[in-house]
Amino acid sequence: MIILGIETSCDETAISVVEAEGNEKNPSFKVLGSAIHSQADMHSLYGGVYPNLAKREHTKNLPAVLETALEKAKMPARLASESVAGGEISKIDAIAVTVGPGLEPALWTGITFAKELAEKWKKPLIPTNHMEGHLASVLMNSKNFIKLMPSDTVSKAHPFETVHIKFPALGLLISGGHTELVLLKSWTEKEIIGETKDDAVGEAFDKVARMLGLPYPGGPEISKLASEAREQNFHLETKFPRPMIKSGDLNFSFSGLKTAVLYYLRKPHPAPRKASDHLPLDQGKEYQKIAREFEDAVVEVLIEKTKTAIALHNPHTLIIGGGVISNNLIREKFEALVKEYPNMELKIPEKSLTTDNATMIAMAGYLSFITKSAQPELRAQGNLKYL
Ligand code: KG4
Ligand code: ZN
Repeated sequence: MIILGIETSCDETAISVVEAEGNEKNPSFKVLGSAIHSQADMHSLYGGVYPNLAKREHTKNLPAVLETALEKAKMPARLASESVAGGEISKIDAIAVTVGPGLEPALWTGITFAKELAEKWKKPLIPTNHMEGHLASVLMNSKNFIKLMPSDTVSKAHPFETVHIKFPALGLLISGGHTELVLLKSWTEKEIIGETKDDAVGEAFDKVARMLGLPYPGGPEISKLASEAREQNFHLETKFPRPMIKSGDLNFSFSGLKTAVLYYLRKPHPAPRKASDHLPLDQGKEYQKIAREFEDAVVEVLIEKTKTAIALHNPHTLIIGGGVISNNLIREKFEALVKEYPNMELKIPEKSLTTDNATMIAMAGYLSFITKSAQPELRAQGNLKYL
């Protein structure tokens, strides 16, 4: 079946046309066409995402994003404005839209847009959970994706390649809004076994970046500075805390780490002791060291908590999703970690599917649709949990 996915939970306006087949144990997916409009540049002017600004931008950009996604999928976009689903558009079987968690004003724009399309095209709607989207993001085989994107042509003969997931699986979701460990017995049976008590890990990256005067989103900026520090072997002498690393449970906390960075920055720094250091304090070098120490602290906590969860639940698969898994160091450390567990496979999404996108929403929508599990209500739910 063909699903049109719509995502507007935060600052990305995204629509993707995805072909899906197979059952819950063997689903496979192919991107027919997708488009995304990021508001990051606009929000970076304000240092973060403002819900009402995001809402205004989604409303403005949704029609053009739909047009591009349909054109890429070789579905003439002019047909989208007709009162019935004509031509190629009639091949779309359902519309999956993110209903939460996320920013409610932003979510409503996608929901309203999806409702209008569903009524016009007479297609069913699938209210979809954003976090289930991040989990499903690992199901897109790069061969079904990368080959299609550069030429924007769709080879109907191109076979699906399935990503097999062995359950039970452990999901680690690390994004701007969430940090959680989820135990999956199947795609439909999930339980949150650990979560952050305060800031999400991406939020901590964004806040620390802001303290260093770096633009939003801060994750990639911090990561760049940290890798510069590693290349030049720069270390911060001060150690930041690794919050809750030894708490024995599966919960996280990142606000203390963020505050430690703030206090460090506020402290008057002694003049450098080594003659090789510049006077006054070389701010660029200092910031690289801070970024490195912060990133190391985050990685250590994520790895330690995941190891505890693996020891408790013996998963056959470790799924990592969410924007923060774009981070090179975190990817490398988890790739190294799984080598310690010969019976466990690591599944990480394509880089383009780590941050918010509509392909993952179409995939999660499909899984929800074919399993006929209870679906969330069709209304914006900022704090939606799993059903
Ligand atoms: O999943 P996502 O796109 O949105 C939410 O659902 O929240 O995640 C966005 C988050 C932001 O906090 C951003 O700074 C972070 O992912 N991020 C990164 C990197 N790229 C994006 N964090 C660390 N390193 C990165 N390379
Ligand atoms: Zn997200």
